[in-house]
Amino acid sequence: MNQDDKKRMVAEAALKHVVADAVIGVGTGSTVNFFIEALAGIKGRIRGAVATSSETERRLKAHGIEVIDLNSAGDLPVCIDGADEATRHLHLIKGGGGALAREKVVAAASRKFVCIIDDSKRVERLGAFPLPLEVIEMARSFVARRIVELGGQPELRMGFTTDNGNPILDVSYLEIDNPVEWERRLNDIPGIVCNGIFALRPADVLLVGTDSGVQEFR
Ligand code: A5P
Repeated sequence: MNQDDKKRMVAEAALKHVVADAVIGVGTGSTVNFFIEALAGIKGRIRGAVATSSETERRLKAHGIEVIDLNSAGDLPVCIDGADEATRHLHLIKGGGGALAREKVVAAASRKFVCIIDDSKRVERLGAFPLPLEVIEMARSFVARRIVELGGQPELRMGFTTDNGNPILDVSYLEIDNPVEWERRLNDIPGIVCNGIFALRPADVLLVGTDSGVQEFR
């Protein structure tokens, strides 16, 4: 089974977590794109969706799914999103697609966070995937120097700005042995809008697409 087949399979498995007559949170990325396709088949069962990126918003609308602003939706019963890495503690690295800030807000606003990945994303320890940091433009050199002091190697994501108009630093070589501590430490650096560690609010359910079917972890 190729990676896309696993992504499609796990995306379809996430449909059982969709709450009827509710507004749900929808993440960003290629796995979530399969979820949006699957969601289109049952769109009559939900009131609408909060999108974590302009790309997700565009795709939801193209499928005739109503997109609702989080400011008017209030807290959400569930959100479904992908990840770049996931541990057995359901700690994640996200932001490969640059949507981390909105994804973190939507995850925090959701009572249940269902993360959907293929098995290439499962890791023992976070950090092989370069950690995305969304930063304020005027602070990017300052933040980069602080990151070097912490042992990381930051690289500006060239030709890219987030939906919030900010650049991203992708940080290699961090030893993220304690994700909760690292997320707090990075939250404390002024100029970082959002870091891609999702550990303070981890996933509640992790669905993994494998050759032998979908595995579920809680
Ligand atoms: C978007 O910014 C990311 O957090 C995505 O959730 C993550 O990159 C997973 O994307 P794929 O499903 O495309 O791997």
